[in-house]
Amino acid sequence: MEKREQLYEGKAKKVYATDDPELLIVSYKDDATAFNGKKKGTIVGKGVINNKMSNRLMARLEKAGVPTHFVEELNDRETLVKRVQIVPLEVIVRNISTGSFSKRYGFPEGVVFAEPTVEYSYKNDELNDPLICDSHILAMQLTTKEELETIRSYALRVNEILKEFWLSCGVTLVDFKLEFGRLSDGTIILADEISPDTSRLWDAATGRKLDKDRFRQDLGGVEEAYAEIMGRLEAHV
Ligand code: C5P
Repeated sequence: MEKREQLYEGKAKKVYATDDPELLIVSYKDDATAFNGKKKGTIVGKGVINNKMSNRLMARLEKAGVPTHFVEELNDRETLVKRVQIVPLEVIVRNISTGSFSKRYGFPEGVVFAEPTVEYSYKNDELNDPLICDSHILAMQLTTKEELETIRSYALRVNEILKEFWLSCGVTLVDFKLEFGRLSDGTIILADEISPDTSRLWDAATGRKLDKDRFRQDLGGVEEAYAEIMGRLEAHV
């Protein structure tokens, strides 16, 4: 596989073309941003951890029947993935109230929901990724009705699989964000990453935050938390 020109640079990853038009290489950076890029920093070693963690989790999901973009880990920071057209939605699943849910509704943090919630944000930095409802997604033709049903059911399936997996590592999966894409034949698959940047992960025994909230909220011990959560995952698999 030959790495070709850089196609895109995002907040946490770079994307390169390859000699196969159906495949891309993603390269994970240590750069960290929060609050739509207003807070910037570096989390040393994050790129390596997010690359490996996302790959392990996606391989697990793939085995459990959720199609993903993961093809092959190339090195510490780089992975070969299937090229998709990204659906411009952030798909957020929540098991416990916190973050923007608690802020938006003035709802106490830490309440365990009877059923997980699923919500969508319209991926648009200029608009600050606004919350969007199903009928508006369909009105703007961001997805078809069938695609949205597929996305929602995959998101809930991912939650079931990862909730159980993280629990077996002594970690509570609080909430997370997914992104989906379309292959050239239109098939919907899971894309982007699943990492402590995109998930809230709390130590099941102590409630200690082992994710990017340590960076967002200036809690300290950011690198240690990323190393700790990776250690938990590696100890398990
Ligand atoms: O901030 P909020 O409570 O909406 O975040 C819900 C979940 O989605 C968290 O796990 C957070 O890490 C993730 N998220 C993300 N990227 C965003 C917004 C939220 O990964 N732009």
